[in-house]
Amino acid sequence: MTARIIDGKAFAATIRERVAAHVSRLKADHGLTPGLAVVLVGADPASEVYVRNKGKQTKEAGMESFEHRLPAETAEADLLALVARLNADPAVHGILVQLPLPAHIDEAKVIGAIAPEKDADGFHISNVGLLATGQSALVPCTPLGCLLLLRDLHGSLSGMEAVVLGRSNIVGKPMAQLLLRESCTVTIAHSRTRGIEAVAARADILVAAVGRPEMVKADWVKPGATVIDVGINRLEGEGGKARLVGDVDFEAVAPVAGAITPVPGGVGPMTIACLLANTVTAACRANGLPAPEGLTA
Ligand code: GUN
Repeated sequence: MTARIIDGKAFAATIRERVAAHVSRLKADHGLTPGLAVVLVGADPASEVYVRNKGKQTKEAGMESFEHRLPAETAEADLLALVARLNADPAVHGILVQLPLPAHIDEAKVIGAIAPEKDADGFHISNVGLLATGQSALVPCTPLGCLLLLRDLHGSLSGMEAVVLGRSNIVGKPMAQLLLRESCTVTIAHSRTRGIEAVAARADILVAAVGRPEMVKADWVKPGATVIDVGINRLEGEGGKARLVGDVDFEAVAPVAGAITPVPGGVGPMTIACLLANTVTAACRANGLPAPEGLTA
């Protein structure tokens, strides 16, 4: 047996199509154009690439894109003042402040200043609490993408054994909350977990989000399990050429798993697609309209 290889690029394209279709209905029926503001402080090259892609995909989906590029030496107070202006701007439905921020700026303070109903990343404490208590929240984009993918593959996830490797605020914890809401039996395993291989091998759904290249080996995976690899690790390849690998040893695990996401081309492309989805959800909620079906947790 060899696993079905999940095409994350194709799945992200279907999410973007759903977003674009919903946007055109909002424009036609309600004169409403969802808008996403992205704030980049400094010129981190990886962040530059993300921000450019976000702007391009936002416009392609028919939405308004507002980009704010500030110099690296921007004072925290000035960034907070910009966030306050975006909070008050009715054309802006989603706000994303690109992380990491320069060291002199308190990230938690900035995230906490974003209006929760415009928090397109789902990082604000209010959204974390809403998710944890099973209420309507804006959900972090990467776990949301994983959830939409898992629902697409399996339909109902009820009763499935899910193991999340990693306990970050951005992926591990919200992923576990989402799987719990789907009535999975959820375990979070991490660097201190004893016998982590055996814990992982219980999973019907195994989500790896630890940032350790190719950590998950064949004997960590139950035959037929669905393996979602959130890791993106850059390894020095032959001839000094960088090679991207996930947290899963793909070659070793693919013959055991039932379905597996590759790196690159698995989870990665879904993150921006879900950012667009969150912006549409925020725009709908701000206007008393139902959130788009198939694009929310
Ligand atoms: N930096 C890298 N990925 C992300 C993301 O999803 N959101 C934000 N705000 N910053 C990031």
